[in-house]
Amino acid sequence: MGSPLLQVDSVRKVFRTSRWPARAVHTVACDDVSLEVAEGESVGIVGESGSGKSTLAGIISGLTRPDSGSVRLSGRDVYPRGRFDRNAWRTVQLVFQDPYTSLNPVMTLEDTVAEPIRSWHGASDREARATARETLELVGLGGELVTRHPRDLSGGQRQRASIARALAASPTLLILDESVSALDVSIQAQILELLLRLRTERDLAFLLVSHDISVIRLFCDRVLVMCQGRIVETCAAEDLSVDTVREPYTRTLLSAVPVLGDHRKPHPVDVAATARSAM
Ligand SMILES: Nc1ncnc2c1ncn2[C@@H]1O[C@H](COP(=O)(O)OP(=O)(O)OP(=O)(O)O)[C@@H](O)[C@H]1O
Ligand SMILES: [Mg+2]
Repeated sequence: MGSPLLQVDSVRKVFRTSRWPARAVHTVACDDVSLEVAEGESVGIVGESGSGKSTLAGIISGLTRPDSGSVRLSGRDVYPRGRFDRNAWRTVQLVFQDPYTSLNPVMTLEDTVAEPIRSWHGASDREARATARETLELVGLGGELVTRHPRDLSGGQRQRASIARALAASPTLLILDESVSALDVSIQAQILELLLRLRTERDLAFLLVSHDISVIRLFCDRVLVMCQGRIVETCAAEDLSVDTVREPYTRTLLSAVPVLGDHRKPHPVDVAATARSAM
């Protein structure tokens, strides 16, 4: 068997919050984390707030250098001798919860999506724009929308634009860090449906960080459970239920999913059900 698409080995990251040694607070955000993702596989990451999910996503996508451990993409070290290999990073794209983070406010959508095609794939300006328009069309942002700036879009449209920008880099691994959580239930369902389609059409692998257990069950093959910087349990996504999981921590996490009575946040099952029924 060949090497997995992504191989993370014993990664550790400690944040220090003060330059003054006496006042420094050390937070172990990732502690001896190892995981593998095969080509085309979808892996979910769940865990309470502050358990290290975004730090891990940042390490895998090249934004945060680990203190120790290694990250390999298709067998190639992303941090050779502690340095970051920019070429390896192109095949991994991260979509944040807040699309403003990845969209340049002064660029139109077409320019935003054309930029990685031009700079990373060496396409001419004309080719890059044509591919950008195709990619934007794919995520449902065709027509005059391509000439708009991020501020002139709705939250859901902005999130689609950041997904289009990530796709423009032709990634083999797409990391979604709570990328749909802030959106309303019907937009979430539309974006999930799009991602499910892309997963099949492009054989993309996914790492999906989400608090939404039903979305994880719908979307992922496998789930990693994080607690205080460590992976404490790994299971098949379909086994992610209070009755089947092994660890008490995972059980507590699952029991904390809102079921009834929270009118501010729609029940997550609705999102998954809507996405599924739209397929
Ligand atoms: N740049 C930073 N400097 C200092 N501490 C940090 C930094 N980034 C993260 N941390 C700390 O590391 C820990 C893990 O944070 P992280 O953002 O990875 O958690 P998370 O699981 O993504 O949480 P959430 O579900 O709330 O997004 C937290 O205690 C956080 O305060
Ligand atoms: Mg986070």
